[in-house]
Amino acid sequence: MSNNLLANKKGIIFGALDDKSIAWKIAERCVAEGAAITLTNAPVALRFGKIQELGEKLNAQIIPADVTSQEDLDNLFSQSMDILGGKVDFVLHSVGMSLNVRKKRAYTDIKYDWMQKTFDISAISFHRMMQTMYKMDAINDWGSIVGLTYIAAQRTFPDYSEMAESKSLLESFARSFGYHFGVSKKVRVNTISQSPTITTAGSGVKGFDVFFDYADKMSPLGNASSEDCAAYCVSLFSDLTRMVTMQNLYHDGGFSQMGMNPAVLDSI
Ligand SMILES: NC(=O)c1ccc[n+]([C@@H]2O[C@H](COP(=O)([O-])OP(=O)(O)OC[C@H]3O[C@@H](n4cnc5c(N)ncnc54)[C@H](O)[C@@H]3O)[C@@H](O)[C@H]2O)c1
Repeated sequence: MSNNLLANKKGIIFGALDDKSIAWKIAERCVAEGAAITLTNAPVALRFGKIQELGEKLNAQIIPADVTSQEDLDNLFSQSMDILGGKVDFVLHSVGMSLNVRKKRAYTDIKYDWMQKTFDISAISFHRMMQTMYKMDAINDWGSIVGLTYIAAQRTFPDYSEMAESKSLLESFARSFGYHFGVSKKVRVNTISQSPTITTAGSGVKGFDVFFDYADKMSPLGNASSEDCAAYCVSLFSDLTRMVTMQNLYHDGGFSQMGMNPAVLDSI
């Protein structure tokens, strides 16, 4: 079902790898709601992922960019403006990767050069992306920028490791840059704190399946799906949420407000 909420809007979607990716569902929903978009991912993901399939389906051009490369981001925004015919109205940052998690290093035995790379990819890239847009004047007034995050930024989830600090940093960048973009361009910046979702990045976290079920039981509405996340994202890109900025918005079926749920105790 489409309500044409993004008619005449142009956007860039970072992070669609395969059809499990949250960004994949968001890209589909944005186009269904009338937007024109470009897609981007790391050059290596273009070789191993399925983004070409999505590009063909949505009639969206794909521009490779490693989010840690300034040159790639400059190229991404200038090419996107050429392709889409002007400045963009919305951008989704759906990028995350932890080297220490991927290489199964314990949190108490972190390799710091890997940690710095993790922060660069998963958090500093959000600032870099916004700074690039800011300097290039690549986003229209009243535009909207969204990053995806997780509640491990506020609470301890031991197996999430250094991604917890990455997400804290990401959310802080949303507030700080939200101020600068707000006063200069009326552009809003928010993060969506999404339920556990079965994707390539999500499943890389140890014990993810068990935790997915725990969160599903704990949340009065159950876990929010990628499709639900896409719908929420569209609302944030639309003109219906123009005064919402610098927020970390929980999209988790109520998980973040729960203390105890008997449904969880029953299964112990
Ligand atoms: N899956 C979950 O449970 C969950 C929950 C809350 C938040 N999130 C967040 O949602 C976002 C999307 O993750 P996902 O779960 O859809 O998994 P995903 O693996 O499909 O997406 C992660 C993306 O990051 C991209 N990426 C990694 N390194 C990159 C680089 N150097 N340059 C450019 N792109 C790079 C990957 O290619 C991939 O497309 C992430 O920020 C993740 O932390 C996920």
